[in-house]
Amino acid sequence: MNLKDDLGPILISSQQIHQRVVQLGAEITHNYQDSDLVLVSILKGGTVFLADLMREIKIPLTIDFMCISSYGLSSDKYGVVRITKDLDQSIESRDVIIVEDIIDTGLTLRYILKNLRAREPKSLEVCTLLDKSARRIADIKIKYKGFDIKDKYVVGYGLDYRQQKRNLPHIYELDESLLKS
Ligand code: IMP
Ligand code: MG
Repeated sequence: MNLKDDLGPILISSQQIHQRVVQLGAEITHNYQDSDLVLVSILKGGTVFLADLMREIKIPLTIDFMCISSYGLSSDKYGVVRITKDLDQSIESRDVIIVEDIIDTGLTLRYILKNLRAREPKSLEVCTLLDKSARRIADIKIKYKGFDIKDKYVVGYGLDYRQQKRNLPHIYELDESLLKS
């Protein structure tokens, strides 16, 4: 098994990602002057993006992590999500940005937003690297977005296929034949 097995073409190169992350970091830096900023990353896919984005934000901030498990699409618990690791810090009266790898149906994020909103942060926004809006079910307001992508399964830069391929520096389409099997 090789890391590059089962890949389709590169969809977004590491250089393109870097350029966009720099822009997003500058935008967030500008918008959050004198605030109490907390970046919340959703494990595990959002971690690579978080690591790069936080270093492009030039104001004080803290980071925190949440891990959730969702039931599969075939399950009758469609859209039901469970928190398996919660935040370490209180977010009450603080400025929170959720940092996500990709928003697909939006069901995961809808649950997280509802859950975090109940903790009464001062502000709550979403920053996602990728927006796959073709399959959106939940209406989510996305304040910061890296790229819009088509309805393709993608891997690399934190995104996995069966827990593998997160360590690829570019974002690739997955070989289509793999998804049919
Ligand atoms: P949603 O609840 O359908 O928006 O699911 C979002 C989550 O599904 C993301 O945070 C990813 O973990 C995963 N996901 C959705 N699309 C892809 C993809 O193309 N590649 C890898 N993971 C994906
Ligand atoms: Mg994710």
